Amino acid sequence: MSVPEPIRNPEIKYTKLFINNEWVDSVSGKTFPTINPCTEEKICDLQEGDKADVEKAVVAARKAFELGSEWRTMDASKRGHLMYRLADLIERDRAYLASLETLDNGKSYVVAYNADLPLTIACYRYYAGWADKNHGKVIPIDGNFHAYTRHEPVGVCGQIIPWNFPLLMQAWKLGPALACGNTVVMKTAEQTPLTALYIAALAKEAGYPPGVLNIISGYGPTAGAAIAEHMDVDKIAFTGSTETAHIVMAAAARSNLKNVSLELGGKSPVIVLEDADLDEAVETCHFGLFFNMGQCCTAGSRVYVQESIYDEFVKRSVARAKKRTVGDPFANGIEQGPQIDPEQFAKIQRMINEGKDCGAKLMCGGDRWGDKGYYVQPTVFADVPDNSTIGSEEIFGPVQQIMKFRTIDEVVKRANTSKYGLAAAVMTKDLDSALTLAEKIRAGTVWVNAYNNFSCMAPFGGFGMSGIGRELGEYGLEVYTEVKTVMVKISQKNS
Ligand code: NAI
Ligand code: MG
Repeated sequence: MSVPEPIRNPEIKYTKLFINNEWVDSVSGKTFPTINPCTEEKICDLQEGDKADVEKAVVAARKAFELGSEWRTMDASKRGHLMYRLADLIERDRAYLASLETLDNGKSYVVAYNADLPLTIACYRYYAGWADKNHGKVIPIDGNFHAYTRHEPVGVCGQIIPWNFPLLMQAWKLGPALACGNTVVMKTAEQTPLTALYIAALAKEAGYPPGVLNIISGYGPTAGAAIAEHMDVDKIAFTGSTETAHIVMAAAARSNLKNVSLELGGKSPVIVLEDADLDEAVETCHFGLFFNMGQCCTAGSRVYVQESIYDEFVKRSVARAKKRTVGDPFANGIEQGPQIDPEQFAKIQRMINEGKDCGAKLMCGGDRWGDKGYYVQPTVFADVPDNSTIGSEEIFGPVQQIMKFRTIDEVVKRANTSKYGLAAAVMTKDLDSALTLAEKIRAGTVWVNAYNNFSCMAPFGGFGMSGIGRELGEYGLEVYTEVKTVMVKISQKNS
């Protein structure tokens, strides 16, 4: 499919807070800038939400959730129709939204257009279909009773999202929350606030009632914390770092014990067996790590390669990384843009230096790319010690770690030593090995001869410190549903 020309200077239409279907200034009057990571220049200033704005948004969301409100009395099928309409409007403005995402985030426009946007649209359509299908059961309990369950919305949902896939992370959260009949106060990432506000405008155009969706732009320790600790927020869904997840969960525990679902980091192992198609494995591992500048929670950042093919695999992986095209993400044929911000850039540089000091072999890259923007050269480390920082901690950058192994038993043990358990992959032509490893590896998703393949129909989430709960698929409805049991005594004896 052909990709339309990008809009290099997309008009910025919305910079205010979106509360109760209106565009409002922050209570404090404060603003904050969003930066183009290619140029390090300001794109625009936005209203900066804080505690007082979160308060207004929660009041609006609570009112929209009241019994008898338009939203609570709306037919479930109509909730589905609204979401189908939202998906259609996103599709109408696909090239604009892909351009805005590229401007704010620095990801490739072609990828935004061909991956982020279609996955976003598919997610809303998928959950639109669930709106009138999330129903309970009739349960034949003992005694003379009619017992059934109702699937009810949880209430006012706080949602905090990161900057690596702004549109998609918004869709993963709004799709199930709104399909199930909840109301939402969402805080976007301070690095990438623009596309979420445009989606809010489209939601209003689609016909969502006031207060159902509220978007607060702003920072984590202020606006984000205010949501996490709010006494009238029924649920918090968070995607981001494990470090911040500790804070969010503690705030939930300290306040009203709100439900918590978390989608966090990883240090995902990719196991390449000696019978794998070598070129395909090299390319899949390259994509699995370098996609989106390495800024993926699933990044395949521990590549375990079997001894007999190790040297050749390293050689070809280095050659592939050296061929990776870095530059202007709006330009055709550019695979890699800048990292999101100076903090991430500095973290990656620090990790690379630790890699050089830990005994790993730097095979290529390792430096800043160019002289403007937060660009990092595609970097490959070989012979990485498992217990080194780069072998065990999330880098979130274009830095690949390759390690050698001998036997399957050995690699299972090493793969499973991580505190994380988000994703994993196995490269092999042998069915037995694939199934054995898929069973033994501790991870929420295991790919076989593939990587970073996502579907809104299949659940996604983490074991261990990679998270709590699942997003996507039918399983993704659970964290946005309260199950109510109703038992009705039947006075006439059953015959
Ligand atoms: P972060 O976890 O601090 O930020 C994610 C979201 O949480 C943002 O919206 C942020 O404003 C919000 N936040 C920050 N502090 C908060 C607080 N005290 N209360 C409530 N919300 C808060 O992640 P950050 O600083 O952007 O990146 C640090 C590292 O986190 C990355 O290097 C990467 O390793 C990891 N990360 C993982 C992501 C994933 O997809 N799992 C996404 C982004 C970052
Ligand atoms: Mg930005």
